[in-house]
Amino acid sequence: DLLIYGPTKPLINNGFSDQFVLHKYETQHDLERLPAGVAEKIRGIAVTGLVPTNSAVLAKYPKVEIISSFGVGYDHIDAKYAAENDILVTNTPDVLTEEVADTALGLFIATAREFIKADKYVRSGLWLTQPYPLTVGSLRDRKVGMVGMGRIGQAIARRLDASLVPVVYHSRNPAAGVSHKHYPNLIEMAKAVDTLIVITPGGPSTANLVNAEVMQALGPRGIIINIARGSVIDEPALIAALKSGTILAAGLDVFAQEPKVPDELKSMQNVVLLPHVGSASVVTRNAMDQLVVDNLKLWFAGKAPTTPIAETPIKGR
Ligand code: GLV
Ligand code: GLV
Repeated sequence: DLLIYGPTKPLINNGFSDQFVLHKYETQHDLERLPAGVAEKIRGIAVTGLVPTNSAVLAKYPKVEIISSFGVGYDHIDAKYAAENDILVTNTPDVLTEEVADTALGLFIATAREFIKADKYVRSGLWLTQPYPLTVGSLRDRKVGMVGMGRIGQAIARRLDASLVPVVYHSRNPAAGVSHKHYPNLIEMAKAVDTLIVITPGGPSTANLVNAEVMQALGPRGIIINIARGSVIDEPALIAALKSGTILAAGLDVFAQEPKVPDELKSMQNVVLLPHVGSASVVTRNAMDQLVVDNLKLWFAGKAPTTPIAETPIKGR
């Protein structure tokens, strides 16, 4: 049997319903309360980032062989437990890289150039009575420090290069083939730049990585763009820093408690807020769906799925 979160159509279209019993679940909690006798039969699970797939949940599925996850981030899955229990985990990298990089650049421009404020100016009719006050800076007055330089980070850096914006980056180790300056220390980088674009995986190793000290180091012209995970930024510290003028502005696609966004952020003029839509175009979401299906299909055909995560490499196929 297979357990699917959300739409089953791509799986049915790919012939899975002939081969397997498909159990569909609609809310994240259904994974924890499948009818007795069913969980024991499940061999494959499809999940999204909304479904906390921790060890307590996974322990209920003794026969599960593969978790095919939608999205590139997999901080919702206990990868260590999966590795220890011979469960393969796959994600959907690559197909979303350019889309997420577009979102990052768009959010950066919308924040730095204050597009939301300007949009309100037109709608309110104020433009009819006075020209828009010319107060915004230029992208090229800025220096960007990327927090993370993986595939998506590199696609963002390419866009910034094309826009003539200086770029440096922080990551634990220098990224192969990247010529931009690497900072092993995030505080040192924050002191040297005025804009952070955060695109590093979530999970315990990056929790609250961008904290009050980093914001202090970034300084009063500071802009923070987050398209990674809400957990990477200390959200209360961010709110305090925006309020006090410790930093200037923020553009956020992700939040600590999605879909809840703190009212304080919603009431601020100097933030741009998106509902976690980094990869959300129809063409890219379809490609992600297809990769979720292809990974399951390959596995149950005895072949090697295309995109296993690093913690669960494929053995013997
Ligand atoms: C979405 O946030 C993803 O990880 O792809
Ligand atoms: C992060 O996972 C990236 O690909 O940049």
